[in-house]
Amino acid sequence: MKLLKTLSIGVIALSALTYSCGGGTEKTSETTVSTPAAAPAKVSLEDKHKDNPIYIKGLAKLKESDCLSCHMVERKIVGPSYAEVAAKYENTEENVKMLAGTVINGNVGNWGEVPMPAHPALSQEDAEDMIRYVLLLK
Ligand code: HEC
Repeated sequence: MKLLKTLSIGVIALSALTYSCGGGTEKTSETTVSTPAAAPAKVSLEDKHKDNPIYIKGLAKLKESDCLSCHMVERKIVGPSYAEVAAKYENTEENVKMLAGTVINGNVGNWGEVPMPAHPALSQEDAEDMIRYVLLLK
């Protein structure tokens, strides 16, 4: 009796397997179609923060300066990506002031051999608004 039961479960399992194998080709094509549709669900850091007033103000000031020719949000170009900078430094007033200073005075050595030029025309206030935007990007 026990053997018979095991056997019939085996048969059911086998037919289920055969069935799902038969449908396998359809399943695969279904998966390939649904994968790209699911991908855009990942929100970029820019989209995540775009409505934050700190983000809007900081970005407006960055655009008036030369920052964007060396920095991108999620990709390293000449300088580190802003996301990398945000990951390295906690978003505290102390770090905002300190990093505003590195932007105004220029800096080298924290990220490698390439120096960031000084920005003597930038006010401390504008530099801090830019850094508040940068440190949001996490
Ligand atoms: C000519 C290219 C260039 C420009 C223009 C530039 N940067 Fe940089 N930036 C760099 C490089 C290179 C570094 C890495 C310096 C280092 O290793 O200490 C850097 C580093 C930084 C850091 C991290 C500083 C640290 O000590 O970790 C911040 C924040 C930053 N830049 C913001 C800005 C802002 C804001 C502007 C615009 C006012 C700007 N950068 C313009 C190249 C640039």
